[in-house]
Amino acid sequence: MKNFDTRPLALEIKKIICENENTNTYVFEHNLKSKPGQFVMMWIPGVDEKPFSIAYDDGKQFWLTVCKVGPATAELFKLKEGAKVGIRGPFGKGFAFKKGEKLALVGGGYGVAPMYCVAHKAISKGCKVDFILGARNKDLLLYTQKISGLHGINLHISTDDGSQGFKGFTTQVLENLIAGGAKFDHIFACGPEKMEYFLGLIAEKNGIDCQLAVEKYMKCGFGVCGQCAVDGSGECVCKKGTVMNWKKLKTLSEFGKYHRDAQGKKHYF
Ligand code: FES
Repeated sequence: MKNFDTRPLALEIKKIICENENTNTYVFEHNLKSKPGQFVMMWIPGVDEKPFSIAYDDGKQFWLTVCKVGPATAELFKLKEGAKVGIRGPFGKGFAFKKGEKLALVGGGYGVAPMYCVAHKAISKGCKVDFILGARNKDLLLYTQKISGLHGINLHISTDDGSQGFKGFTTQVLENLIAGGAKFDHIFACGPEKMEYFLGLIAEKNGIDCQLAVEKYMKCGFGVCGQCAVDGSGECVCKKGTVMNWKKLKTLSEFGKYHRDAQGKKHYF
């Protein structure tokens, strides 16, 4: 049964926050009624429609953090505050957790934005949150101030080149925390699929539940077009996920190995 509205809403971009040279956060004033980990489809007028994870939703406004990676997002970056775009959703399944649980949240690259949404909600539910934020270098770290501003959060920063925080990968930071005695009910992550794959292995080795936001090429966003079907099960990520459990993901022949583009061509990680 349909439990969401698939019609686009024309919403005004109320504010644009520049996160870095290639990344903006778009603020909309609308009660989206989303859960952490869900996504929307954004129609960039006259150009294309693209999926974006929700970075924040307090019932009055929601944020989408967008990295300029192709022609559609390049056009979006030309729009100014006050311009209108089409928004459909929210779609997909979010992260599942209960009040007071201990969470390890891992955000790699621009995957940090949806994890901020989780952190915000989790803190309000009395969860203990360790947030591992990673990027290739310090200039690519996103949301550092926003995350450190969340009351009671433990923020751990890593960069591949060591220009800020731990020198190495988010996976190593998590392993170090666990080796140091940290206990977690769940590991949640959004970021490069290779990173997610190794987080899944760490979770399995330590007997911790692991939920991962999976990125796929999408068109409809609600299970009709088949564009986001995964090899190994044929299930549509937009409907079964995008947040999926490691126990399921590890059975898929493509997870952590390759992704398909708009034409269905395989690209190996
Ligand atoms: S994007 Fe159409 S089925 Fe998932």
